[in-house]
Amino acid sequence: MNLLSWKEAMQKLYEAILKGLQESGGFYNARIQGHFESYLASLQSFVKRLRQAYRNNRVAVDYSSTDMQAAYLIAYYPHYVEMTLKILKLLSSYLKFNQEIKACFFGAGPCPEVAGLTQFLAEQFPKTKRLVANVYDIASNTWTPSRNITHQYVIPQLWQGQVELNSYSLNLCARQSFQGIRSSLEGADLYIFQNCLNELGDTLPAQENVNFLFDTSSQGSIIIIADLQYGQNHTFVQVVREMINRKNDFKILADERRLAIRCSLPPLMVRRNLLTDPLGPSLLSPRVNVNFLVLAARKNKQAYNYSDDVPF
Ligand SMILES: C[S@@+](CC[C@H](N)C(=O)[O-])C[C@H]1O[C@@H](n2cnc3c(N)ncnc32)[C@H](O)[C@@H]1O
Repeated sequence: MNLLSWKEAMQKLYEAILKGLQESGGFYNARIQGHFESYLASLQSFVKRLRQAYRNNRVAVDYSSTDMQAAYLIAYYPHYVEMTLKILKLLSSYLKFNQEIKACFFGAGPCPEVAGLTQFLAEQFPKTKRLVANVYDIASNTWTPSRNITHQYVIPQLWQGQVELNSYSLNLCARQSFQGIRSSLEGADLYIFQNCLNELGDTLPAQENVNFLFDTSSQGSIIIIADLQYGQNHTFVQVVREMINRKNDFKILADERRLAIRCSLPPLMVRRNLLTDPLGPSLLSPRVNVNFLVLAARKNKQAYNYSDDVPF
């Protein structure tokens, strides 16, 4: 897909989010908020609150208000779809998908990762027709309205295939919490943790849970951990890196400490009413870059004691 068509895809993505906010219920209410533009303007304080919260190394955000979710959907989500797409493109030579694939997403919230994967399938795997996406989050019920926008508005704009979206409540920091979701993890092609590490309180049980995932994940599957450049995230990934190095059935496919994407500009309506400061950087300027790290590893069919890549 060329650059122009990716720009078109981003435009469609924003349009789908705005349409979803207008139509899907629980967000914009014309009777109360008047014009949609006024509603967008009313979200400014929520974008500011999110951006202030994300300035901390250890982030705590209450996503329960749909205004907060709407602010996230407009100011963050599109860039995180781009982030997933960039990571999958980086790994594309290792990915082999059949007609149906299964992927598990942890700390997925409104699920931009799922949208990013479907965009990737549209671009690179025309034979894949069905995706089973299991999404896990500590606030899975809270995120239902935003997840519905992903499923009903965003994904249909990006991909013609069929998506089964299954949502599970999961605390990554609760001891042995992955034992409870074990059967849902089976047979997946991909396991993705994106942008949730710096919201984790107690990281030790989370690391034990990741270790459990390594042991129970499917042969040939790929585990991706991708997150922003926070100190806590680098520390977490370092522990996982050492964990992988102690295992003999995993191969690291990507270990990038400094990746970046240049963010697409939001549509005019958003720039006029919500992200209104074009000069920035300020709490209300459109985002310019996302800088992040990625660790990806593949579980191999047999112990990895030779250097060549083994095709599956
Ligand atoms: C910044 S959002 C990221 C959402 C999505 N992954 C993305 O890339 O946009 C962080 C997510 O982590 C979830 N989260 C925070 N603490 C968690 C925990 N202990 N267990 C599971 N999910 C958690 C939040 O509910 C939220 O959905």
